[in-house]
Amino acid sequence: MPIPKKLVIVGGCGHVGLPLGIVFANRGINVVLLDLDRTKIDMVNSGRMPFMERSAEELLRAVVGATLTATDDSFCLHDANVAIAVVGTPVDEHLNPTVTEVYRSVDSVIDRLPENALLVLRSTVYPGVTKLVYERVQNRGRRIHVAFCPERIAEGKAMEEISALPQIISAFEAEALQRARDLFAVVNDELIELSPLEAELAKLFTNSWRYLNFAVSNQFYSIAESYGLDFYRIYDAVTRRYPRMKSFARAGFAAGPCLLKDTLQLSAFFGNHFFLGHAAMLVNEGLPNFVVAQLRQSSLGDKTVAILGMAFKGDSDDKRESLAYKLRKLLLLESREVLCSDPYVRDENLVALEEAVRRADIVIFGAPHSVYQSLEIPPDKQVVDVWGFWQKQQAPEEAFAVAGHHTL
Ligand SMILES: NC(=O)c1ccc[n+]([C@@H]2O[C@H](COP(=O)([O-])OP(=O)(O)OC[C@H]3O[C@@H](n4cnc5c(N)ncnc54)[C@H](O)[C@@H]3O)[C@@H](O)[C@H]2O)c1
Repeated sequence: MPIPKKLVIVGGCGHVGLPLGIVFANRGINVVLLDLDRTKIDMVNSGRMPFMERSAEELLRAVVGATLTATDDSFCLHDANVAIAVVGTPVDEHLNPTVTEVYRSVDSVIDRLPENALLVLRSTVYPGVTKLVYERVQNRGRRIHVAFCPERIAEGKAMEEISALPQIISAFEAEALQRARDLFAVVNDELIELSPLEAELAKLFTNSWRYLNFAVSNQFYSIAESYGLDFYRIYDAVTRRYPRMKSFARAGFAAGPCLLKDTLQLSAFFGNHFFLGHAAMLVNEGLPNFVVAQLRQSSLGDKTVAILGMAFKGDSDDKRESLAYKLRKLLLLESREVLCSDPYVRDENLVALEEAVRRADIVIFGAPHSVYQSLEIPPDKQVVDVWGFWQKQQAPEEAFAVAGHHTL
């Protein structure tokens, strides 16, 4: 089976590019990570991960300087057989998808790649972008094969999921598709072939589905808690040995760089008629507001509030689009003082965990880091745990007693 002699990952030091590069390099492929961020490049070249990703550093060390290097020099593209582009694809300030950045990075790749190279788009893109890139290649008179093969990993689980999840591949031409097959067969034993537009939608459906799923739980959480009920007693009752509720997620701040953005991309594609997506956005983005509204009953103006966990998800150092920061903003307007803490996030405004807990009247878990799971919090403090994870390793009877902490 033909495997690439040299694979360049554009955006290669990011959350998607770096784990992917590490996996390919561990399979013996010569990988170059092309990035703009010098700090990340230097860290990677010295065998250190620039962000948390389980098991990644060990695997990085096994290949760095041998089959894997990082650089900011785009000359590395000139003899690459394959380039995989995974630069970010944010929505703009009006929450609309934008292709300017994608074009900019893709154009420079198209101009530098040799003839007959394969260009794989791996970022989540607005539907139709693969076709536009394909046409851009033709218009520039280049013979470069274009494929769209979306990434579907969850941060923190990348090293296992890159190989374990089936890989969706798509292209307009048979040869490009065959090259994509050959490439991903190196790391993956199940490939699913779709047309590019189907593949683009498949990725947006995946993230929107997850975002909607969280919204259902967050809405049910708000309903239960607004009646003074413990949502997780009901959650446990309806999920225990009841298969049809298997996909019922726990409540929590549904945030991060992908889910909302991709729901908005799908909505834009459907002429802003994705009503469920918009409703999900109101519910998920409104959860911090709901928490603050509930706390108003506890004369919030006289209270010091601690937010524990500023990352967008548990056991992560990624604070991109984290709702813990939105919560902080809301509380700054209404409480006496807000103290934020996180063992992993880099932010000079954070305080130590011990200080946050000691000085707070109210403790809110912003992210369910497992180090907080058995945290001791004095019983005179009010605790808000939308995730339902704190002290949940206890027997159910004990967990119910925790409701005395006014767990929201
Ligand atoms: N984070 C996830 O879990 C995840 C999962 C699946 C898909 N995605 C998608 O993957 C894409 C990338 O997301 P990410 O989380 O890895 O972003 P990221 O910000 O972590 O990584 C992007 C990297 O690209 C670099 N970069 C930006 N412009 C560049 C350029 N012109 N040339 C070279 N490097 C450049 C940045 O310095 C950064 O290191 C997005 O489209 C995202 O939606 C992300």
